[in-house]
Amino acid sequence: MISNEVKQQILDAARIEEVVGDFVTLKRRGTNLIGLCPFHNEKTPSFIVSPAKGIYKCFGCGKGGDAVSFLMEHDQLTYPEALRALARKYGITVEEAPRTAEQIQQLNHRESLFQISAFAETFFKEKLWQSEEGQRIGLAYFRERGFSDATIEAFALGYSPQGWDVLTQAALKQTYSREALVECGLSIENEQKKLYDRFRGRVIFPIQSLSGRVIAFGGRVLSTEKTKAKYVNSPESVIYNKSQVLYGIFQAKREIIAKDMAYLVEGYTDVISLHQAGITNVVASSGTSLTQDQIKLVSRFTRNITILYDGDAAGIKASFRGINMLLEQGLNVRVVLFPDGHDPDSFSRTHSIDEITAYLNEQAVDFIRFKTQLLLKDVGNDPIKRAELIENIVESIALIPDEIYRAVYVQECSRILHIEEPDLISRLNKVLRQRYKQKLREEERRSGASGGAVSEAVETGSVADVGADALTDRLSATQRQVDAVALEQQRDDTLERSILRLLICHGRETTTQCFLDEDGNELEEAMSVGLYVLRELEEDEMQFSDAVNQKILSVFQKSATENGNYVPTLEDLMQLEDETVKNRIVDISYTPHEISPVWEKKLIRVPTEADARILNRIVLETMANFKLRQLEKTERALSDRLKATGLSDDDCLECLRHKKACEAVRRVLSEKIRRILV
Ligand code: CTP
Ligand code: MN
Repeated sequence: MISNEVKQQILDAARIEEVVGDFVTLKRRGTNLIGLCPFHNEKTPSFIVSPAKGIYKCFGCGKGGDAVSFLMEHDQLTYPEALRALARKYGITVEEAPRTAEQIQQLNHRESLFQISAFAETFFKEKLWQSEEGQRIGLAYFRERGFSDATIEAFALGYSPQGWDVLTQAALKQTYSREALVECGLSIENEQKKLYDRFRGRVIFPIQSLSGRVIAFGGRVLSTEKTKAKYVNSPESVIYNKSQVLYGIFQAKREIIAKDMAYLVEGYTDVISLHQAGITNVVASSGTSLTQDQIKLVSRFTRNITILYDGDAAGIKASFRGINMLLEQGLNVRVVLFPDGHDPDSFSRTHSIDEITAYLNEQAVDFIRFKTQLLLKDVGNDPIKRAELIENIVESIALIPDEIYRAVYVQECSRILHIEEPDLISRLNKVLRQRYKQKLREEERRSGASGGAVSEAVETGSVADVGADALTDRLSATQRQVDAVALEQQRDDTLERSILRLLICHGRETTTQCFLDEDGNELEEAMSVGLYVLRELEEDEMQFSDAVNQKILSVFQKSATENGNYVPTLEDLMQLEDETVKNRIVDISYTPHEISPVWEKKLIRVPTEADARILNRIVLETMANFKLRQLEKTERALSDRLKATGLSDDDCLECLRHKKACEAVRRVLSEKIRRILV
């Protein structure tokens, strides 16, 4: 358990921009910072961080919260785990009681795999540096390869002894369970149900998550025997999803942000050697072919990728696929090919840092040049092959989501291949149309629409128009009904949120409003916005229709009655435990509707008299709009009742009277709003 004192200390120390900044490239925009959301796939930034408020918010996917909830969401941590991570980051000591065997078992499943991986990492490092066998075999191997001690430490490299089950025994002695050992792949069970070490007699490359926790291992053989696989890797587990991991990302992320570019290589040793040479913005897909998730991971830090591949046929083929995937995600791709027989690892070991940097800078070419250079060799004067090359490049250009970039590459392609631009554009459009058609067909199949009317229309007509028409046709009557209900709910929600926004963002400012005293005289009174709003709502016994909105309102009501009219601040609200409520609060405090941005900016200064007038107006207007809406709903319900058959005369009269009263109030309110507006 973390004491409340320490918890507060951690929360005070945590700066949202620093916590988020560890994972997302943030650019300043006014008082806020903006970047690409780590929680969904996006190409234009809609993820906003407010250092002043200590919160983040994504307008794309709606996620939002404070530093703790960010870590919880991002690293899939529990609340205490996230607090501990923050404590580590800010050097705050959290007292941990020594673990008993029982407690270890109680640790949740993921955490136990993390712990066992951390244990193994330490074990392998110790064996490398301290055991005779490790020094003689493992350390000697790394040094032979030219890795410095600092490099070996930076990547936490290790050694797994040759014995049958050295690690397994050590782990079991520490009360780690057999199941966990097998599950994270450190041990393998043989037919006699005996455990043995997966990595025995290999040098170890720990694989770290974005936040630096060890999640898996790669082990390389030392002998040159061809009978053994060169690398053995951890199997996938609940903490290791191979397709979502990039080797070296933890060590590289800062520099990737700083350079706004990432080098993408194939293997462990490529990352490490380049890193040692001083080029640290490098990550590897580790033997697997590049995946969408890996691209998503790196594109949080930069949009610029340079692929480094060795010049063999397999490398080149892999690069083609990778290039297309990167282009499709809207990234800028450049490629460097190494001289025959060299990979990034061997090249950086045999050249000086200046030579390496120069090579990388001079050789990096965009994907069109790269493909052309490679393929043109085979083309010669063969017109069919030349057409194929053009087709290949056009297919790649067609993947780029941004129209402007597409145009730039068309130009480039036209220049290099000496083809007229209009010719290229018409080919490009053909590919784009085909893809669009295919996409529509897939959508039709998914939604079960019959006849393929849409894709047929595309074939005959212009692509742009058909989308909308087809959509309207598909909207059935029931769908429209559903939409109408949703629209009503949305109108309620908008009004409720604008009131909550007043409470959350301006609740403690002063407003002067008019009241009628008992004799019907107008009376001016100054009070906090929060109290005024609560009083108005209470007077008419008004409730919010959305449950979450109502919960937030209750927090304010409760605080006002129990804490002597205290209006909670945003910081107070962030202490609430309910994540849904917190998320909504962040959402609301970030959404600037109803209030003009000019006015918002002004409020950062000490409010002038003019600002105060605007605040008064907006408070009044917001409340009036909400009341109008309630009246409108009541009146509609009354009308419905009047239309119903079998209403007694008395009921009918009562309804009409009620409706008249509503109408009267509504007129007064409307008039009031009009007066304010003038
Ligand atoms: N790899 C793997 N499993 C294999 C072979 C390769 O996981 N059986 C991955 C490793 O991440 C490796 C990368 O693919 O680093 C590239 O493979 P390779 O070029 O063969 O290995 P290097 O790391 O370059 O090894 P070395 O230079 O020591 O031969
Ligand atoms: Mn190699």
